[in-house]
Amino acid sequence: MNHGIGWLDRPKSNAPRPESERRAADFWGSRISSLDRVLERLEEKGLPTSPLTVETVNKIDLMHMGAAASTDELIRLGPITAADRVLDAGCGIGGTSRRVASLTGASVTGLDITPEAMEAAIAINAATGMNDLVNIHLGTSTAMPFDDGSFDVVLVQHCAMQIEAKADLVAQCRRVLRKGGRLLFHDWFLGGNQPVIFPVPWAADEDTSFLEPLADMMARLESAGFVVEPFIDQKTQALGWLREVGDPIRERKEQHRELTETQINNQSISNTMIPNLRDERLRVGFLIATAQ
Ligand SMILES: C[S@@+](CC[C@H](N)C(=O)[O-])C[C@H]1O[C@@H](n2cnc3c(N)ncnc32)[C@H](O)[C@@H]1O
Repeated sequence: MNHGIGWLDRPKSNAPRPESERRAADFWGSRISSLDRVLERLEEKGLPTSPLTVETVNKIDLMHMGAAASTDELIRLGPITAADRVLDAGCGIGGTSRRVASLTGASVTGLDITPEAMEAAIAINAATGMNDLVNIHLGTSTAMPFDDGSFDVVLVQHCAMQIEAKADLVAQCRRVLRKGGRLLFHDWFLGGNQPVIFPVPWAADEDTSFLEPLADMMARLESAGFVVEPFIDQKTQALGWLREVGDPIRERKEQHRELTETQINNQSISNTMIPNLRDERLRVGFLIATAQ
């Protein structure tokens, strides 16, 4: 059964959480699409909503660079199989959780700090018939409400870049993974050229952005008890994806047609993220680690 109980659902630590976590939840709270809004957006795109399938809703519920192609790559890199107990830490509205469960048969637990995201994830799970395989919890990835060693795989997809307490995040990932379990990161890191150009999809400014260099995260993972594999850089793929997202916008402008709300958002993301990636102010890619 899905259940979200309060701001921190049975936290494994009594330490006060950083104020930045509340800011992150506020940031996403006003941006998350409810089930009704998801259905409207799918209808605007001319996609079928009855019955609602995971594949259809994945056209808009994956809140990360590369959308379905990136999630599929994480499944391959795991590799994630039906026998795995998977945690999707920072699951948003559950797009990756549902995709992983429906493609692999694995049981997936989603955890997110934003109540609106948890509510939307639970509603979309019900609407797509995914309740049996996907559970959603409200809580923070820096004090997870789960027992030690209770997962075979932990996914952190486009979430670490927003977390201030990174040592807690990594320690919690290690704690909830069994020995030999796999941590699959798909995230953003500071590049060699600064500053980062804001806004970025997770932050209007540094208020909700906590980026660090890739080398710092690799060292952090190693000292927390992980063996880390070489970084798989996704700069080329991400730039290609951003340009693809921009194509319908250019087309509509050339035809002097008004942009939809999604296209206006995508346009402002492309305006900053293309130079951020191209000029190596930001890096994005996969970082895979095994718990010792
Ligand atoms: C860019 S979205 C990515 C969502 C999802 N991983 C995906 O790829 O579709 C970032 C998500 O991280 C969540 N988040 C931010 N800080 C968090 C924290 N400390 N613990 C759990 N979730 C957090 C936000 O609420 C938001 O839903």
